[in-house]
Amino acid sequence: MNMYELILKKREGERLTKEEIYWLVNGYTRGDIPDYQMAAFFMAVYFRGMDQSETVWLTLAMAESGEKLDLSEIQGIKVDKHSTGGVGDKTSLIIGPMLAALGIPVAKMSGRGLGHTGGTIDKLESIEGFQTALTREQFIGNVNRIKLAIAGQTANLAPADKKMYALRDVTATVDQDALIAASIMSKKLASGADVIVLDVKTGSGAFMQTQERAEQLAKLMVDIGWQAGKKTSAILTDMNEPLGHMVGNALEVQEAIEVLQGKGDERLLEVVFALASYMVLGAGRAETLEEAEQILKETIETHKALDKFAEFVQAQQGNPDWIYHPERFPKARLKIPVYPTGNGYLKSCDTREVGMVSLILGGGRKTKDAKIDSTVGIQLCKHLGDAVTTKEPFAYLYANHEEQAKEAEKRLQNAYTISEIPTEKQPVIKKIVVNE
Ligand code: URA
Repeated sequence: MNMYELILKKREGERLTKEEIYWLVNGYTRGDIPDYQMAAFFMAVYFRGMDQSETVWLTLAMAESGEKLDLSEIQGIKVDKHSTGGVGDKTSLIIGPMLAALGIPVAKMSGRGLGHTGGTIDKLESIEGFQTALTREQFIGNVNRIKLAIAGQTANLAPADKKMYALRDVTATVDQDALIAASIMSKKLASGADVIVLDVKTGSGAFMQTQERAEQLAKLMVDIGWQAGKKTSAILTDMNEPLGHMVGNALEVQEAIEVLQGKGDERLLEVVFALASYMVLGAGRAETLEEAEQILKETIETHKALDKFAEFVQAQQGNPDWIYHPERFPKARLKIPVYPTGNGYLKSCDTREVGMVSLILGGGRKTKDAKIDSTVGIQLCKHLGDAVTTKEPFAYLYANHEEQAKEAEKRLQNAYTISEIPTEKQPVIKKIVVNE
């Protein structure tokens, strides 16, 4: 086999065999295939695509390119969720404790923020003392003992993806369904869970801006999951505005605590319950979605999920008092009201831009190794469709530097459009994709 022939074959729109795909993934991961040939190959895939079987082989080859997390020492059916990336998405912080309170093991490897999107690891690290670097023994031990562990990715999982993603990122080849599906699913398959629930975001803050493309991607990933022997489902959720009221690391943890205390934003709750219910069903702990939702609600009403969150924080060296007393989280120095640019109804939101506003304030990384400020962020008081007036703030900025706040304020105002006539509210759950 040689790379020139494989590039040519794909350029001509032909289908690669399983052996060819494994050969190129392994060759590239080892460093035998140079970046310039792999880049040409990705561009050929970008224009010619890959069929279902090619995509499954690509995913499996990538998943097998490094270590696989062996979760066999964890008793019970292990469940995992994955979001394709959003703004204000704190669902993992709520769902993990709820499921663990039901005795369902959650062993989750999470990432840091990427570009305009936030990451669960950064959010958890805003809690005093919280450690996300766990050894394999600590990770598995915690899940067996308290049913929940969330760690940063330390094992060498799917190294092919790391290398391939970095190359796609600089060759304008990220945005291709088969490559995205293989990238996401290879990491999920290498993480070892039995049940995978995917939260595929669609809209102005998502990778997939249209529902049609999000649905295609969701179907592809669900199919790959099942072919790899994992019970997989996907929920298409709206990212045409941030999820919930808070955007920013510590602010989002505090919002998650509010939900676990039995309060919280309706749209956020809808997404939480939809994702968690499919995880409960997959774990075989309920027969119907209604039953799943009922037992999940009970974990909140009885405060068991909140207690589990505190127990989980303590197990990872964090200060559990902060969970019961969220007022102890350090505050940003400035709280600045932001007024809408006109009277009317919030019509649209450039959600990516809202994520960028949080980044400008210091809540995300401008460079790979930059330190983030966990206290800063945005509080959104209104949803799309709500009435606004120039006399009442529609948001607040939490900032530590006046200059950053000035720029952030302008950009947040401009991220929203306002209509004089009432606009219809859009559902947050767009579609459920299960294996047919
Ligand atoms: N997220 C990933 O992990 N990979 C992609 O290719 C796109 C989004």
